[in-house]
Amino acid sequence: MAAIVWTEALSVKVKLIDDQHKKLIDMINDFYDSINKHSNDELILNLINGMKNYTVMHFSTEEKYMLQYKYPHYEQHKIEHQNFVAKVNEFEKKVKSGKVIVSYEITSFLKDWLKNHIQNTDKQYTDFFIKHGIE
Ligand SMILES: [Fe+2]
Repeated sequence: MAAIVWTEALSVKVKLIDDQHKKLIDMINDFYDSINKHSNDELILNLINGMKNYTVMHFSTEEKYMLQYKYPHYEQHKIEHQNFVAKVNEFEKKVKSGKVIVSYEITSFLKDWLKNHIQNTDKQYTDFFIKHGIE
C-alpha cells in the first residue's frame, strides 16, 4: 500500500513543480516501504537525507520564482518551508542518536504535511505563476 498518491487534486498547474512534488511523494513512499520492511537504520537515514536534500532543492525552486516575480505571500510561504526543514532536521538528529524509533507516525507527518502544504499553500500561487508564464 502506498502512503500517498499524487492525483490531479494535488496539481498546482505548473509542470515543473508538479514533477518535483511527484518525486517527493515517491520518496515518502520509499521511506514508508523501508519502514514496512524493517530496513536497517543506515538505509532509513539515507532515505531521510535524500528526502531532505531534494526538499531543500524543491523549496528553492518555488522561492526563486516567488522572489523573481515579487510574489506577495513569499515571506509567509518561506516560513512554512523553513519550519518543515527544521522539523526534518530535528527528526534526522533523533534517529541518528537512537532517540526515536522510525515509525508510521513520522510517515504520517511527512505525508500530511506535504498534502496540506500543496493543497492550502502551494495552490495559492497557481494563478500568479501562470500569469508570469511559469510552466
Ligand atoms: Fe511550497
